[in-house]
Amino acid sequence: MGIQQSVMQTSAIETDEEEENANSSLNWYNSNSGEKSEYNSLGSLDPWQKEREGRWMKHYSSCHRILLVGEGDFSFSTCLASAFGWASNMVATSFDSQAFLVKNYRNALSNLVELRMRKCRVMLEIDATKMATHQLLSGMKFDRIVFNFPFAGFFKGLPREAQIRLHRRLVSGFLENTKEMLSENGEIHITHKSNGFHGEWKLELVAFVHGLRLVEAVDFDKVEWPGYNTKYGFGGDHNFDCNPSITYKFRPFHI
Ligand SMILES: C[S@@+](CC[C@H](N)C(=O)[O-])C[C@H]1O[C@@H](n2cnc3c(N)ncnc32)[C@H](O)[C@@H]1O
Repeated sequence: MGIQQSVMQTSAIETDEEEENANSSLNWYNSNSGEKSEYNSLGSLDPWQKEREGRWMKHYSSCHRILLVGEGDFSFSTCLASAFGWASNMVATSFDSQAFLVKNYRNALSNLVELRMRKCRVMLEIDATKMATHQLLSGMKFDRIVFNFPFAGFFKGLPREAQIRLHRRLVSGFLENTKEMLSENGEIHITHKSNGFHGEWKLELVAFVHGLRLVEAVDFDKVEWPGYNTKYGFGGDHNFDCNPSITYKFRPFHI
């Protein structure tokens, strides 16, 4: 019998009022962020919440099976893993090789060591546009598939429209690959800059073509992700200014 079930069965709910209080504590959402809070609507700590839902870090729970794609120096994965404590629910991947990571990111190696220590599965040289057929990933299902700041590269010689097409092609290939990898109630999260050049990618439209609907768009604030460094990628250890950015959450239309 699960913890939630045993809690429900042993608590004697005798009056409507008590039942209402119990329900509000089970379903309580922070209406600003859409995340669950460990406090019920009356502000008191629900002692079983953590047991039922694992540890939460913003949109993510240690009970979710999480796939991270296109990591830079693995600081986002490490931030999540350290919040969870134990990260055997996570698979963290990068497009880059170990040689690239060591050469370009001063924190990559220590992040990889920490991830492995916390039992996160780490995979390098994973192409988001082909991952569904990767021999170790194919057949795996995830509750959250996360690609922060997808970017196909710097194409300075190309006209703006052609550059945007290449970035959209990366996102499209990624979304196509998530189809086989998403669990029944799964979500795909893409965090993306929302102004200027990036705003012109029209992610929602790309997702729509793949039968995905936008279920939520949450302002992204780097301060809420301790240790996370948003990397340019493609050489060098520079962080880019990720303000303003949004985390887009997509689900298949049928859910
Ligand atoms: C702007 S950087 C963001 C890096 C990291 N996600 C972060 O937030 O710091 C874009 C990343 O996309 C990755 N990328 C580019 N093409 C990719 C592909 N086909 N599959 C997976 N990742 C890819 C690059 O390796 C690069 O690290």
